[in-house]
Amino acid sequence: MSSISSKAKITAIGTYVPQRTLTNADLEKMVDTNDEWIVRRTGIRERRISQPEEFTTDLCVAAIENLIERYNKSVKDVDLIIVSTTTPDYVFPSVASQIQARLGIENAGALDLNATCAGFVYGLHLANGVVTAGLNKKVLVLGGETLSKVTDYSDRTTCILFGDGAGAVLVEYDEENPSFLSSYLTSAGEGGVHLYRTGLSKKMDLNELNDSGYIVQNGREVYRWAVTTVPLGMKALMEKSRLDLKDIDWFVPHSANLRMIESICEKSGFPIEKTLTSIEYFGNTSSATIPLALEKGIMEGKLQPGDRVLLYGFGGGLVQAGLIVEWTAS
Ligand code: UT7
Repeated sequence: MSSISSKAKITAIGTYVPQRTLTNADLEKMVDTNDEWIVRRTGIRERRISQPEEFTTDLCVAAIENLIERYNKSVKDVDLIIVSTTTPDYVFPSVASQIQARLGIENAGALDLNATCAGFVYGLHLANGVVTAGLNKKVLVLGGETLSKVTDYSDRTTCILFGDGAGAVLVEYDEENPSFLSSYLTSAGEGGVHLYRTGLSKKMDLNELNDSGYIVQNGREVYRWAVTTVPLGMKALMEKSRLDLKDIDWFVPHSANLRMIESICEKSGFPIEKTLTSIEYFGNTSSATIPLALEKGIMEGKLQPGDRVLLYGFGGGLVQAGLIVEWTAS
């Protein structure tokens, strides 16, 4: 059943979202939109927004502190920190290095990765790889974002979607009870122009980009791409792992839009009731949506140790990442 080697186990999870809530009613006062449209088209009711002086590192550190408290774990002996983010405090140094210093982790490598909304799954895939290869023994994997800082609150097509949050998991060496069963990564870079935020270059191929510094999205194109290709990716992953969707206890897709998730479930034949999402009260938090959904599943008594979980991230790049794990953190 396992199509990748694994000697790595997920042993703990922690999350954090900022205190401030931005409701659909608040947005009605800012742009030409309404609660009914937002809920019907996206499933979002609220999102959390960081304070002006609260950045991705702060959210990630709070998520790790939550993990430490709940699982009575030490992170002092962590030897690698991987942070998925598109909204680091600085271009460099990395959020991961800031976390290492803030938590006084003395002997750890630290890096940020950018695979947008699929980044948390990429991070887990890499953590399994390095631990299984014997390169590292205890890895912190984070997905953290402060998307509100790069959202244009005069653009109703994007500002209703995004929110802030962070999630952390610990991946430790365990030869006897590994968590990781199968993975599938893919990229369609020719679609990069449909979802971006400019950096040093203001052009992509022949396209002049919108250089506002905010997230720019062609929502319809991304929607069409995701609902068409994610079911195909899920099928490829199941074939690779010689598993059937019936063998999956929980599907945890990136929470970009509830309607998209419903469409993906319908096309792939997966029951929507067995889906965990974080969209309704946190919105689209990019690389944090999947850990926030896992957390919600635990809090609601749904996700149990031993459950087989299909994580599936997709987003700007365009990129996708699917991963089947056995849930091993209680
Ligand atoms: O996380 C990374 C990946 N991102 C995604 O996966 C996001 C993918 N896309 C989406 O979630 C959806 O495309 C949106 C939520 C962004 C938009 O929903 P949609 O159902 O695709 O709407 P649409 O773009 O087709 O627009 C339909 C209508 C348009 O009006 P007309 O041209 O039909 O008159 C829009 O101007 O809805 C209008 N509209 C709005 N109306 C009220 C767009 N945004 C709003 C709004 N409130 N906030």
